[in-house]
Amino acid sequence: MPGSRSWSRGAVADGRRGGTTEGMDTTQLLKELEPVVEENVDRHLAAAKDWMPHEYVPWSDGRNFALLDGEPWTLEQSTLSPVARTALEVNLLTEDNLPSYHREVDRAFGRENAWGFWVNRWTAEEGRHAFCIRDYLLVTRGVDPEGLEQARMETMQVGFDSRDKPLLHVCAYVSFQELATRVSHRNTGKVTEDPVAERLLSRVAKDENLHMIFYRNLVQAALELEPNETMRAITDEVVGFEMPGAIIPGFTRKAVQIAKAGIYDLRIHHDDVVMPLVRQWGIFELEGLDEEGEKARQELAAALEALDDQATRFVEQRAEAEAKRAARAAARE
Ligand SMILES: [Fe+2]
Ligand SMILES: [Fe+2]
Repeated sequence: MPGSRSWSRGAVADGRRGGTTEGMDTTQLLKELEPVVEENVDRHLAAAKDWMPHEYVPWSDGRNFALLDGEPWTLEQSTLSPVARTALEVNLLTEDNLPSYHREVDRAFGRENAWGFWVNRWTAEEGRHAFCIRDYLLVTRGVDPEGLEQARMETMQVGFDSRDKPLLHVCAYVSFQELATRVSHRNTGKVTEDPVAERLLSRVAKDENLHMIFYRNLVQAALELEPNETMRAITDEVVGFEMPGAIIPGFTRKAVQIAKAGIYDLRIHHDDVVMPLVRQWGIFELEGLDEEGEKARQELAAALEALDDQATRFVEQRAEAEAKRAARAAARE
C-alpha cells in the first residue's frame, strides 16, 4: 500500500556509524530517538498528500529536439528571465544530487526500524522534485538542455559529502536545508512569472516544508534528550551552513544573481530560515545547559548577530546598486 509503513520494532542499529557525542554514543541516540521518528513518520504520512508530478507539466508545449528531426534549442525559445533560468537550474541541479544525499542520511540514520523507513520514504518523495522540474524545463525549452545535462554530470560526479557528519549535526543541517530549499523553490516560482512553474514549485515547496517539520521535531526531541550536544550541533550548522548546491559549477556567481533578485539572500536566510527554527526550538529559553552547552549558545548568539549585520549590509548595498542603475537608465532616456 503506498505510504504505509513497515519496519520491525525494536531492532537496534549497529554501532558502526561514526560520530559520537560526548554524552550518548550514536547507537544510543538512534535508539532513544527511535520513538520520536516513529511518531513523526506517522504524523508525516497522515499530513503528506500524494501528488502526481506529471500533472504539473505542460506536455502539449513540447516538441522534438534535433536528433529526432525536430528543432534544436536556442535561447530565444526560453520565455524565462535570465535570473529565473539560473534559479531553476540551481534548484534542479541541487535536487539532482539526491543519490549523494541518500547516501548521507542512510549512513547517519541507518536502515533499521522507523529510521530506515524514513530514509526510503524521504528519498522517494525527493525523487519527484528533479523529475518534474526537468520535465517542465525541457518541455517549455526554458533552459539549454545540453548545458543542463553537462552541469548535472559535473555536479553528480562531484557528489555531496558531509564528511561523516555526526547524527545530531545531520539532523540540524537538514532542518535548515529543507527550510532553505522550501523558500528557494517558492521564491523561484514567483520570479518565473509563469503560473505553471509557480504551481509546480509551490507543490515541491510543500514537500520541503513537511520534510523540515520532520527534522525540526527530531532536533526538538534531541534538545530534550541531549541538550548540550544538540546545542553544539545547531551552532556548528548555523556557523558553517552551506547550501547543498554549493558544488554546482559556477555556484558562487549564480548565488549572487539569485541573491540580487531577492530569491535567496542573507536577509531571507536569517529571517526566514535560521531564526524561525531557533525560535521554534526555544534556544534562548533553554535552561540547564552545562558549560559546553552555554558556550555553544553564546557562539550561536554571536553568529546570529553577525549574520544579521551582514544581511543588513547586503540589502543596503543592493538598494544602492539598484538606485544607481535606475539613475543611469533615467540619464540615458
Ligand atoms: Fe527536494
Ligand atoms: Fe526535502
